[in-house]
Amino acid sequence: MTIDYNERIPNNVELSSNKTLQRALEHWQPSYLNWWSEMGPDNSTNYDVYLRTAVSVEANGWANFDYVKMPEYRWGIFLTPSEENKKITFGDHKGDDVWQEVPGEYRSTLRRIIVTQGDTEPASVEQQRHLGLTAPSLYDLRNLFQVNVEEGRHLWAMVYLLHAHFGRDGREEGEALLERRSGDADNPRILTAFNEKTPDWLSFFMFTFATDRDGKFQLASLAESAFDPLARTCKFMLTEEAHHLFVGEQGVSRIIQRTCEVMNQLKTDDPTKLRAAGVIDLPTLQKYLNFHFSVTSDLYGAEISSNAATYYTTGLKGRFEEAKIADDHKLDHSEYEVMDVAGNKVLSRHVPALSALNERLRDDWVTDIQAGVNRWNRVPEKLGIDFRFVLPHKGFNRKIGMFADVHTAPDGRLLYEAEWTHQHKNWLPTEEDRLYVHSLMGSCLEAGKYANWISPPARGINNKPIDFEYVRFN
Ligand SMILES: [Fe+2]
Ligand SMILES: [Fe+2]
Repeated sequence: MTIDYNERIPNNVELSSNKTLQRALEHWQPSYLNWWSEMGPDNSTNYDVYLRTAVSVEANGWANFDYVKMPEYRWGIFLTPSEENKKITFGDHKGDDVWQEVPGEYRSTLRRIIVTQGDTEPASVEQQRHLGLTAPSLYDLRNLFQVNVEEGRHLWAMVYLLHAHFGRDGREEGEALLERRSGDADNPRILTAFNEKTPDWLSFFMFTFATDRDGKFQLASLAESAFDPLARTCKFMLTEEAHHLFVGEQGVSRIIQRTCEVMNQLKTDDPTKLRAAGVIDLPTLQKYLNFHFSVTSDLYGAEISSNAATYYTTGLKGRFEEAKIADDHKLDHSEYEVMDVAGNKVLSRHVPALSALNERLRDDWVTDIQAGVNRWNRVPEKLGIDFRFVLPHKGFNRKIGMFADVHTAPDGRLLYEAEWTHQHKNWLPTEEDRLYVHSLMGSCLEAGKYANWISPPARGINNKPIDFEYVRFN
């Protein structure tokens, strides 16, 4: 399964054996590069960036590290190896052979799933495109660019499926993926969270921590798909996604570390004093967490969803780690507990499990994100500071689902409009908070130097030292 880098489009799918497909993708390639130069990282064309590139899709050593100019990054098509006699593991077709082609009756649904996933990839590059101008270090700048080129590659992954399996419609969708723009009033990206701004590095780290983690759970459930090319594509994407989550978790953790150190030096937890010292106070970090947690939560959709049930029964999208779940994998008679709002109370009720698959995936994500928050909390714990980060209630600040029409406090209490108006500034970043965070952003690009508001990482990338020249500007 080595990747052929002699081709114009690196791939491990024997692209050259299908000339029509190869030509179509080679035709899309310049449009992609145009999009990258227009919407990719600002001003970065000439930089040499210490990036990893996939050399093989095997679990061990898929990455090769070297200096690369981003427009010359070898974006390509990488699927994990196919398994012999692979069977569908859930839904109505459980036990049948997996599909190598799209069944006609599922064509439009599957195309929609692939387009929606594909759309998030360039969207996040667009959201992050100005961050390079204010990087807190060369190390962080390199990590940003690594995430960006890999999101670009994820777009390639989805466009390959569209071209290879959806004919003319697929090619048209491939073009449209390069035409929508994050935050554009006339032609926005498909999902709301991908039209939000990522205006500063704290937002970037929170985004990669929370929203790339949604990516992980969406990809993991698509990696179960009965449509085998989609499953294999998503499996490989997951290995790239792991680094994005690391960037986010470690980024925030280093901010917490720095703030806690200054709290100890100054013997204070007074946000005004800490801001005067140029670090981000912990309550402000908590507000950013609340914001990104709630906005990302909406990406899973409504708690009760007939679409989610259809995706499952038809075999298009499974559950997170489907194979590890001990049940019949059909869910005709199972139930699942969801929260509901009745009058002024939040209660839970049992609903058919098939209808609650969005909620189940959201719950899996919450468990995973909670583990990340627990790791963050070791930092204040170690430094003897009694602040702990907590995830807000699932109903907090929601725009989709049961809680869309009510106001919920982070602890789950339902609030009257007036209470919410009065208090939400304590729970979500205010304009003032954002301006403060923004005021800290300024580039710190000398090898080995780190901005005042963030600690250096414990170790570098690929065993390089933390003062390594991760980006050369030329
Ligand atoms: Fe991605
Ligand atoms: Fe990602």
